[in-house]
Amino acid sequence: MNTPYKTAMVWISFFFATVGHAQPAIYKDADYKLGEKLIAESKCVACHVSKVGGNGSAIYKPQGRINNASLLRGMVEQCNTELNLGMFPEDVTSVAAVLNRDHYKFK
Ligand code: HEC
Repeated sequence: MNTPYKTAMVWISFFFATVGHAQPAIYKDADYKLGEKLIAESKCVACHVSKVGGNGSAIYKPQGRINNASLLRGMVEQCNTELNLGMFPEDVTSVAAVLNRDHYKFK
């Protein structure tokens, strides 16, 4: 592969990595792989399914009282405390960022 072409590819993937997610500033340090893993391991979905059925995603209500990115992060922090999950602040941010990307889509 010649160099100008490679350079273009790097810029194009950079563009999609940045613009594709368009996440709020408070999630800029989020680790999406970590967030997904924590959501899977923390029984979040299992419990939500037992409350609302389906795949559990009906519990996430972007039009409800959680209506911006920092409230969403605060809600995850509250779950973390209440459920004694022992997540670090950066874990909480990563979990909230995954929920935002997949469900809430706050800007
Ligand atoms: C033991 C059950 C249980 C577990 C485990 C649980 N949740 Fe929840 N979650 C709930 C219930 C019940 C609600 C609805 C609360 C309400 O509407 O007042 C909720 C609501 C939420 C909401 C707010 C939904 C909205 O838009 O109003 C978020 C965000 C959330 N949970 C994230 C998580 C995450 C992240 C985890 C795992 C780290 C988790 N929950 C684990 C029971 C649980």
